[in-house]
Amino acid sequence: MNDNSIERAKMPKGDSSILDSRSLTNSYATLVPLLQKGMRVLDVGCGTGAISAGIAAAVGETGTVVGIDSSPHLIAKGQADHADLPQLTLIEADLFTYHPEEKFDLIVSARVLQWLSNPAAALQQFKSLLKPGGIISILDYNHTQLEWTPAPPASMQHFYKAFLDWRADAGMDNDMADHLPGIFAELGFQNIQTLPADEVYKKGAPSFAEKAGIWSKVAELRGPQMVASGFVTEEERLTAIAEYNAWVQEEGEEMVMKLKEVRASV
Ligand SMILES: C[S@@+](CC[C@H](N)C(=O)[O-])C[C@H]1O[C@@H](n2cnc3c(N)ncnc32)[C@H](O)[C@@H]1O
Repeated sequence: MNDNSIERAKMPKGDSSILDSRSLTNSYATLVPLLQKGMRVLDVGCGTGAISAGIAAAVGETGTVVGIDSSPHLIAKGQADHADLPQLTLIEADLFTYHPEEKFDLIVSARVLQWLSNPAAALQQFKSLLKPGGIISILDYNHTQLEWTPAPPASMQHFYKAFLDWRADAGMDNDMADHLPGIFAELGFQNIQTLPADEVYKKGAPSFAEKAGIWSKVAELRGPQMVASGFVTEEERLTAIAEYNAWVQEEGEEMVMKLKEVRASV
């Protein structure tokens, strides 16, 4: 059943609106105080560069931001979207084989380690790319702690459980955020700090339907892979999408995505 985490981590081609709707301030706000003019920053798993663009604005034209992502279609869109930022370079690269000539003051990676079966190896690689005294900041999820009020339809609860099982089957950590401090310590990082970074979406806010609707998008984009590897049936996937879309429009009151930022220095 296990078709390995590398295949499962790849963003399927198609709608990148979930990634595009993110920004530094709405989706990685805890990072803002760390950013200074002139910094050299690496954003690993940058997607379409929606967050990298905000980092580039913060470090200014005397700074440099390199965003890398292994999904070529996302990098191509990001290059087109952010051509106005000369200090931002987006490159198609796998984080395990990226070997830049110059090291970085700050390495950030948001919502990426959750997709890896070997997050410690990724963090070791990031450590090797930092300048002395450099800082690492990882933003990631605790998927097992997601909160919905009221509970969504049984079909979506079933799909969500299958999603977590499909991820775990590939060796992905459904509580990545909570395990980061321990991995940082094992790798010898210093000054480890954890910051709460939950995303709270309430009915009535303009973004509620889009943000709570992330699980329909997951079922649309990732669901076909889950069906192919036998974790849900196609009928279950389609029912979950339809019933969850109705929940978002009608009874859904609140969704809380549980995240933490964990940062440290070398
Ligand atoms: C959930 S998205 C997060 C994008 C962005 N950081 C954000 O917070 O919106 C995860 C990204 O990690 C990328 N990715 C997964 N494995 C990777 C790898 N081995 N090397 C580089 N990028 C990778 C995927 O292509 C995808 O764009």
